[in-house]
Amino acid sequence: MNPEPRADLSLEGLVHDLNNVFETISDAADLLADDARWKKVAAALHRSARRGERIVSSFVETTRGSVELADALNRSIDFARDFLSAARRPEIGFDIATEAGIRLKGSPGAWERVFVNLFLNAGQAMKQGGSIHVRAQRVPTGIEVSIADEGPGIAPEILPEIFKPHFSTKSARRGTFKGLGLHIVESVVRQNGGAVTAGNRTDGCGAVFTILLPEN
Ligand SMILES: Nc1ncnc2c1ncn2[C@@H]1O[C@H](COP(=O)(O)OP(=O)(O)OP(=O)(O)O)[C@@H](O)[C@H]1O
Ligand SMILES: [Mg+2]
Repeated sequence: MNPEPRADLSLEGLVHDLNNVFETISDAADLLADDARWKKVAAALHRSARRGERIVSSFVETTRGSVELADALNRSIDFARDFLSAARRPEIGFDIATEAGIRLKGSPGAWERVFVNLFLNAGQAMKQGGSIHVRAQRVPTGIEVSIADEGPGIAPEILPEIFKPHFSTKSARRGTFKGLGLHIVESVVRQNGGAVTAGNRTDGCGAVFTILLPEN
């Protein structure tokens, strides 16, 4: 007699089922988009659903791939704007100056997670609004990407803690999954052979995160 078939709890099964969730959101967004009043909301839902698909597929991609830095930044900016506007936060400016043609080794979804988490932290820190400054250049050891904001900066006593999972200065109201943003950033950067550091700007007020990656 055949044993009872077991439920498929594999990562692929999870991705498959989550993609159904994202498809449902996209279909519902299509319906909303028929009404002019909801077009902007529908577009934000579409972008979020696409982003969800890219994130989950980054876990099962067999080839590690690479992504154009400019594409990863643009998608991350769109998502961060959608997130902050849905949370009724002040609008954030983005000042981007990156050397042309930089590609990052690794999956596009994973790099989006890095930039989105850094942009959301910056946006959340700048309670009165402000700009995020992104710089990227080739350096002798590889590629350097920095993300600076105009918030209050990071107190020196918490600097050694911030990359640890579940470290957060946000209110406990947000549940058990908070304090993971910078842990995700650090993990993805490390998986791609790089390192990320945090500090405060010397040219003004705010925090600065610097990612150093080896040449592709
Ligand atoms: N740009 C920043 N300016 C000031 N403080 C920051 C900045 N980025 C991170 N921090 C500090 O580091 C802590 C940890 O950040 P992390 O992204 O890991 O978690 P979180 O933002 O608190 O929660 P989550 O990202 O899971 O929603 C934050 O709670 C905050 O105190
Ligand atoms: Mg965060």
